[in-house]
Amino acid sequence: MTETWLNQVFCEDALAGLARIPDGSIDLILTDPPYNLGKDYGNASDQQTVDDYLLWTEQWIDAALPKLKPNGSLYIFLTWRFSPEIFVMLKKRMTMMNEIIWDRRVPSMGGSVRSFSSVHDTIGFFVRRKDYYFDLDAVRIPYDAETKKARSRAIFIGAKWLEVGYNPKDLWSVSRLHREHPERADHPTQKPLEIIERMVKASCPPDGVVLDLFMGSGTTAVAAKRCGRNYVGFELNPEYCAIINQRLAAPETPIKKSRSLVNS
Ligand SMILES: C[S@@+](CC[C@H](N)C(=O)[O-])C[C@H]1O[C@@H](n2cnc3c(N)ncnc32)[C@H](O)[C@@H]1O
Repeated sequence: MTETWLNQVFCEDALAGLARIPDGSIDLILTDPPYNLGKDYGNASDQQTVDDYLLWTEQWIDAALPKLKPNGSLYIFLTWRFSPEIFVMLKKRMTMMNEIIWDRRVPSMGGSVRSFSSVHDTIGFFVRRKDYYFDLDAVRIPYDAETKKARSRAIFIGAKWLEVGYNPKDLWSVSRLHREHPERADHPTQKPLEIIERMVKASCPPDGVVLDLFMGSGTTAVAAKRCGRNYVGFELNPEYCAIINQRLAAPETPIKKSRSLVNS
C-alpha cells in the first residue's frame, strides 16, 4: 500500500484528521479516548462537562465509523462512569460482541472509603456485520502440561481445544504499567502492549490497518507494527507525539507476558 496516510501518526485533532482517511479503508478501530475523569493530557479533553463530553463522543464515533470496512471491528476502552451511555450510542450503530473487563491488578492499599475501590477498565468490542474478521487461533491460550495431564481421561482424547489452547475469557487480568516497567513511557494512561496486541491479532488481518483516534503514547501503533499490521492515528499533545515517534523508532524487544493472560 502506498497511501500517504498509512503508518503515520498525525499530531492533530482526530476529528479534523479523520478527513485524511478514505471511507471503508480500516480493518480495526482500536481506541482509548479520554475518560473525562479530569486528567491532564496537556489539553482539556478529559475535563469537559458531561453534556459536552457525550456530545463530542457521539461526534467522533459518527466521523470514525464510516472509515471501517464492512467486516471491520471496534474496541473502545472506557470506565464504568460513561460506558453505559457510550455503549448505548454504539449499540445503535453496531452489534456488541463483548464487554471485556481489564483487571489492572491494583494492589489493595486503602482507596475509597464511601464506595468500593474501582480497579478495572471496561472495554467494548463491537462489529458491523456477522461476517466480521476474527482469528481466534491467533490468540488462543495454551494449556500447561499439568492441566493437559489432568484432562487425560477418555472423554478429552482428540479434543482439539486441549491441543490448540482455549478461547480467552472476557476478564483480562494484566498489571498496569508501573514506573519501573521497561515498557513504560511518560504518559499517564499508557496501556500494556500485551492487551493491545491480543486485540490486533484477533481482529485485524495480517497487513490490515488499525486506526486509533487517541494515540497517547502510541501503544496501538507500536502493537500494530510488532504484529505486522499497518496503523494510522492522531494525538493532540506534541510531547506525546514525540514519545510515539521514539517508541516506533526503538528496536523491538520481547514483552513479558503476565501469568494470568498466559494461563488462566
Ligand atoms: C487515554 S489517552 C490514550 C492512551 C494510549 N492508549 C496509550 O496507551 O498511551 C487519550 C489521549 O487522547 C488525546 N486526545 C484528546 N483529545 C484528542 C483529540 N481531539 N484528537 C487527538 N487526540 C486527542 C490525549 O491527549 C491523550 O493523550
